[in-house]
Amino acid sequence: MIDLSQAGRGLDGYALLSAQLQALLAGERDFISNAAQFSAFIFHELTDLNWAGFYFARGEELVLGPFQGKVACVRIPFGRGVCGTAAASRQTQRVEDVHAFAGHIACDSASRSELVVPLIHDGRLIGVLDLDSPIAARFSEADQTGIETLAQIFLAASDC
Ligand code: SME
Repeated sequence: MIDLSQAGRGLDGYALLSAQLQALLAGERDFISNAAQFSAFIFHELTDLNWAGFYFARGEELVLGPFQGKVACVRIPFGRGVCGTAAASRQTQRVEDVHAFAGHIACDSASRSELVVPLIHDGRLIGVLDLDSPIAARFSEADQTGIETLAQIFLAASDC
């Protein structure tokens, strides 16, 4: 059992989460296993989330990967919804009000805001990391930067 409370002692916020994530994934490089751990870690360490998980790029669409939260739609074409937009543009999508995002795909009607980070390794789109919140404007710019850093730690720690 890994004692995450010992990782990153003296740090706080995303610096602490980064140190804890590095400790959590150390010693294992399996991509699916690390993705599952990462989604559980985020879901339980961040407040006010109702969904946290992955969609992986398969051809011209995204396919559901490991996640925490309610059951979700399985396939999302590139360019559709917040996740498909992040995949097609390779740009993080930070949506303060999903009801105002044309084409948002409502997997859980409780979702009000969303942050989707594209996962790019060696120039290749691996998939996206998707976080949903029942609170409008849950994700700040600092959250975006922090989550993008956590996503980089996950990619560096995993064979993709
Ligand atoms: N809301 C997403 C779909 C995925 S679920 O939120 C888990 C979207 O619009 O792409």
